[in-house]
Amino acid sequence: MSALEVFRADALVVGTGVAGLAAALGLAPRRVHLLTKATVGAGSASDWAQGGVAVALGGRDTPARHAADTVAAGAGLVDAELAELLARDGVAAIRRLIAAGADFDRDAAGELALGREAAHSRDRILHAHGDRTGAELVRALATQVARHPSIARFERRFAARLLVGERGVYGVEAIRPGGGRELHLAPRVVLATGGCGQIWTATTNPREATGDGLALAAAAGARLVDLEFVQFHPTALAAERFDPRPLLTEALRGEGAWLVDDRGERFMPGEHEGAELAPRDVVARAIWRRLVAGRRVFLDARRAVGERFPERFPAVFEICRAAGLDPRVEPIPVAPAAHYHMGGVEADRWGRTSVAGLWACGEVASTGVHGANRLASNSLLEALVFGARVAQDAGASSPERPVRLVAARPPRAGTDPRRAAPALRAEVRRLAWERIGLVRAEEGLAAAIARLERLHERLPPGASEARSLLTGAWLIATAALARRESRGAHFRSDFPAEDAAQCRRLALLPRVDERALAARFVPAAAGAPGAAERSLAG
Ligand code: SIN
Repeated sequence: MSALEVFRADALVVGTGVAGLAAALGLAPRRVHLLTKATVGAGSASDWAQGGVAVALGGRDTPARHAADTVAAGAGLVDAELAELLARDGVAAIRRLIAAGADFDRDAAGELALGREAAHSRDRILHAHGDRTGAELVRALATQVARHPSIARFERRFAARLLVGERGVYGVEAIRPGGGRELHLAPRVVLATGGCGQIWTATTNPREATGDGLALAAAAGARLVDLEFVQFHPTALAAERFDPRPLLTEALRGEGAWLVDDRGERFMPGEHEGAELAPRDVVARAIWRRLVAGRRVFLDARRAVGERFPERFPAVFEICRAAGLDPRVEPIPVAPAAHYHMGGVEADRWGRTSVAGLWACGEVASTGVHGANRLASNSLLEALVFGARVAQDAGASSPERPVRLVAARPPRAGTDPRRAAPALRAEVRRLAWERIGLVRAEEGLAAAIARLERLHERLPPGASEARSLLTGAWLIATAALARRESRGAHFRSDFPAEDAAQCRRLALLPRVDERALAARFVPAAAGAPGAAERSLAG
């Protein structure tokens, strides 16, 4: 049995995508412990993000217009005040990042180049190095973090449990490579663990996106909201040998690439007035229907991009070449894949969760800024803006309360939480893809829930990552079963229409531990259009 090491800090941040890095920087010069199960600057969805950052910097654009597009995309569930805050603070956040060295693409006149993506009424998407936008943001922030003497980085640490006492969260129990455990104690804990795309067989998300933050928060009794809203990206590379599935950025369609079927026929103009730039859920389902009918679907960028491909979309070009394709001269086979979770840990405009001492930002959080469907390229902006807000709020909060170790579990060496229970993980992912995917129905959701509950009883101790996947799948299926309508990214084949009476957020209060997998619905604290500002933590 290895020794249990105990560390103390002023704040803990779990996750090192854009949200986690922004939060850590904002919390410094306090003593910050930054924990990641990968390495800082790698393995996050932020790092992989090809498409850009939406920001109202164009001459004909305003934050109010950006906010209006965000509200329209969110199918009735966006908190309009938060959308305005995101768009307004986003402008300042991007300017700060540029001043700190982030290098965005510019036009021939040296001005920031602004592209268009689906459901944006103005050109407002910044890119970096063509389609390596996220990597540039992560680089710029990680460079600042590395230089900061008060931020200590703990890499390859799996956050297995939030430590919760009478007065809320006071630390994290982490597993080191090899299975040794360590405790990090602090009065402020920020979850920035990203999303949960790995729950599904086909996902654009990195191997790390297993919904750990959702599972940690659920086990700590934090309220969760909007869980049923999962965005499936229409154009991942249709090649099963790739896991995760490589993304073919929406910017390709922004540049004029078409979707065609295996007869070479373009079909999106007949589906929606926005054609290839219709909302993501519309495009994804149009492709899905054709795939289910036995057809194949391709992204044809020959005319729109052609010879400019290597320079304009270097990451996608590299991916295609690795798959034996040349997108300059042939169409690329595509299929939808799980991409982004609009739902998550219920968080207010300062990222406060329902549990004292716990904040959440980035994809793991659900503030209501995305509603039922996120507007393209709003996620990196959200991570930047809310990462900074969480830091501001947590930093200013009084909890210089002493942290006291309530119950340390005996260390258990030898279990690798990331590799345990591979067969069970594969079954959860298959089940989620088939029953909790792009098109859902009561029968399939109920069957998935029942099967996940049986699998939960069989989870071996120490299989923490498999537990995250299973818990996330169960929670999402539970919320999806309860929403008996179709709205935004949530589509029910048995209730294919939107129902005005269900235009409200669904919040869940989970009770999850090694034996229990339960939850009850509670009124959501915030998030209907125009919801009033309030603190969830009290
Ligand atoms: C993309 O590049 O298509 C993804 C961007 C996003 O998810 O907003």
